[in-house]
Amino acid sequence: MSTPRPTAPPAPAAPPTRDRAHDPALPGTTACVQRCINPACGAVCPLSEVRVGCARCGALLDVQYTWGSEAPRSWAFAEQRAKAGSGLDASGVWRFRELMPFFGDDRAIVSIGEGKTILQRADLLCRHLGFCPGGSVAGACPGQGCAGEGGLYLQYEGMNPSGSFKDNGMTAAFTHARSVGARVVACASTGNTSASMAVYALQAAMRAVIFIGSGKIAYGKLSQALDYGALTLQVAGDFDACLARVRTIAERIPQAGVYLMNSVNPFRLEGQKAVMFRVLEGLGWRVPDWIIVPGGNLGNCSAFGKAFMELRDLGLVDRVPRLAVINARGARTLDRVYNDLGVRWEGGAYFTGDAHRHVEAEYARMDAANERASTIATAIEINRPVNLPKALRALEVMDGSTRAGGWADGQPGVVRHVTDDEIRECKALVGRYGYGCEPASAASVAGARRLLGEGVISPGQRVVCVLTGHQLKDPDVTIAYHTGLDAKAAQQALPDARAWPQERRGRYANPPLQVADDLAEILRAMGLDPALAAGVQPR
Ligand code: F0G
Repeated sequence: MSTPRPTAPPAPAAPPTRDRAHDPALPGTTACVQRCINPACGAVCPLSEVRVGCARCGALLDVQYTWGSEAPRSWAFAEQRAKAGSGLDASGVWRFRELMPFFGDDRAIVSIGEGKTILQRADLLCRHLGFCPGGSVAGACPGQGCAGEGGLYLQYEGMNPSGSFKDNGMTAAFTHARSVGARVVACASTGNTSASMAVYALQAAMRAVIFIGSGKIAYGKLSQALDYGALTLQVAGDFDACLARVRTIAERIPQAGVYLMNSVNPFRLEGQKAVMFRVLEGLGWRVPDWIIVPGGNLGNCSAFGKAFMELRDLGLVDRVPRLAVINARGARTLDRVYNDLGVRWEGGAYFTGDAHRHVEAEYARMDAANERASTIATAIEINRPVNLPKALRALEVMDGSTRAGGWADGQPGVVRHVTDDEIRECKALVGRYGYGCEPASAASVAGARRLLGEGVISPGQRVVCVLTGHQLKDPDVTIAYHTGLDAKAAQQALPDARAWPQERRGRYANPPLQVADDLAEILRAMGLDPALAAGVQPR
């Protein structure tokens, strides 16, 4: 392949870091390690280790804090920061940095001004869907009357620099990557992770390699990665195949020096906690009744659950919201596992009882049936959500319980799936009544409508739907909805790269490379020795 490969400028020297967990100079301060989420294992490793799974049992890792005396016990710190509003304090992630203190000092942080998003009260949409818009609209309660505290709120994460919530996580993961001297970052992506990773890689002077499935990415997202100069490998397979490949390379071929940026990276999820901090900030630190979020690889909902575990421990909330995770019908693994198979976290007994074996059996069944994810919401077209155990934990933690009830008066979170038609319709409504969103984001609103219809959510409750990505990420779906023209059909797969008109490309053109779903081929496309694939067991 003659396409020039993007080269990264030399990375700046890593700023000083300290390993808080092992730093005797910091008595009484918050200690921080990476810990296996399986309570029966609980293996610990220092922050300086680059891992995406437990070395002992293979389960996911958490960034875990033992809060010290300087940890915040009120929100005053964040209120002051929001007023100051410059430098790091202007970042909607790092304004809350006391709640994610895994980095050495402020100079270690890689930020592009992420998290300047809003929580919008959406009264028109609220009424259209049959919710009560609360105290703001007199006599408007369609139900039996309510305390006037309710309402529907939309958390617009599409306002991030790369147009999706991923920037919340990337800023944190790149901060860690730089502290460990990473030079090459990689991810599998349905589009938003890659767009976000590519722009942060530019800022951090690292080389970005992106794995996308053939024909599985909205053009708005693909165009971002190309523009940001990432090496984009279009692998003949779907997202699940791409993630398996990139994990194999990151974990089993250390010579490749690849730092993995998917949400199995526990530092990503640290940053994504900030979405919840901003929701609380937008509500004057009052906790909503429901948080509703689309589920793909399940990193976001996992991060939300961790955020509330920690806020509860720190005494910063006196109740937790209930969580609803919404799958697309064509990619409903969590829904099947949670609702059909009854799999639960159960304080971590998930790992030691039968639960995780049910999940393995379900995956084997899907493989045997060659069942592949398929939905118009390509962002969440995922059948093997890597964060599944953490999502189950979040569904247990975010149960609507209160301090007054001894944290035992709640009911666990819920999972639902919605159809592509429901997604299309709710996307159109978000466009008509608000700032718009991409299809996957609208799954949260479709889920809210469904749960209201089922009576699980009552009309007077306060409900926050997280809109994860910008309206312009996937304009084909919008055009098709409003005009009936199917632009996507014409783009099912990019034509063979060899047939692309070279003479029409721009001077700084950075087209994707098409590669077979084959480890040696992929290594060659990355500019690495294909012989490194010898004897490597795929994941
Ligand atoms: N919404 C959007 C717009 C997304 O891009 C994604 C995930 C999700 C929801 C699901 O979030 O994975 O944390 O459950 N997109 C990933 C990507 C997979 O590669 O961009 P999740």
